[in-house]
Amino acid sequence: MTPIILDMDPGIDDAVALSIALTNPELDIKLLTSVAGNVSVDKTTTNLLKLTTFFKQTQVPVARGAAAPLKKAFVDASYIHGVSGMPGYEFPTVTTQALTTDAVSAMAKVLSEAPEPMTIVATGSYTNIALLIQKHPEVISQIKNFVLMGGSLSGGNVSSVAEFNIFTDPDAAAVVFKSGVPIVMIGLDVTLKALLSLETIDAVAGLGEAGNMLHKLMTAYGDSEPGGKPMHDVNTICYLLNPEFYTTKDYWVDVITDGPASGATIADTQNRWSNGKINAKVAVDIDAQAFEKWFIAQIPAMNQYCEG
Ligand code: BDR
Ligand code: CA
Repeated sequence: MTPIILDMDPGIDDAVALSIALTNPELDIKLLTSVAGNVSVDKTTTNLLKLTTFFKQTQVPVARGAAAPLKKAFVDASYIHGVSGMPGYEFPTVTTQALTTDAVSAMAKVLSEAPEPMTIVATGSYTNIALLIQKHPEVISQIKNFVLMGGSLSGGNVSSVAEFNIFTDPDAAAVVFKSGVPIVMIGLDVTLKALLSLETIDAVAGLGEAGNMLHKLMTAYGDSEPGGKPMHDVNTICYLLNPEFYTTKDYWVDVITDGPASGATIADTQNRWSNGKINAKVAVDIDAQAFEKWFIAQIPAMNQYCEG
């Protein structure tokens, strides 16, 4: 089993990613942390607890993270993810609570106690992990890599150049990309190809209670491309389990933190300023058919956790 820390802002595609991560036997979630992003941090924290309750995985600790970006004002994406961040399904009452420790302290503790360096997966803005790097430099060597949903080399989804997770907190993203920790950047270059067709989303409704829940969330999800709905965050989990689905290129990536290109991720594809240095493995292509097939195959295992 691969131990991971998952930092998220559920959010519908975050919720789909977490549903897989909580129920896949190859992954061992040591800590779940929330961050403000798609909706407020109060709501993203509650949504993490709703999912650990739904899947009867309440032993997985949840810690509340940053309520706002490092410098910018917080603006949510409830126009895509609904007011709650996980609309359309009536989740069971949450009886557990988040830890009394904040996300950054909880991450530092988990990392310092880990026998080996661990992967941190982030599917929201990187505010928590930037704060971890700034406040706890002693645990940086305990981070194996960051597997990030975010960024783009081919245009944005909130501005012409910026992807939402980076645009929301570009200052945090800049800290993370300069941290020296190896990064896997899974951005819009692939996530806009990793679609679930409307037929697949309909078919999922008949696949047990997990399928019913995911169908309702995905139906309410406001993001859409010709051919289906993009499951951005699910790609982080898919990459961990099936790296062979992805084509990657090694680049130096910088983050633009202000001006009209704020939130853009620029890769030195021509080796003009990075002197051959590399800070990120950037996903540039995906076997989209394999992704969709793999996604559907995850649902029976999910039902074993939530049914009965
Ligand atoms: C990212 O933005 C959020 O709205 C999604 O959850 C995903 O993490 C896609 O740009
Ligand atoms: Ca997200």
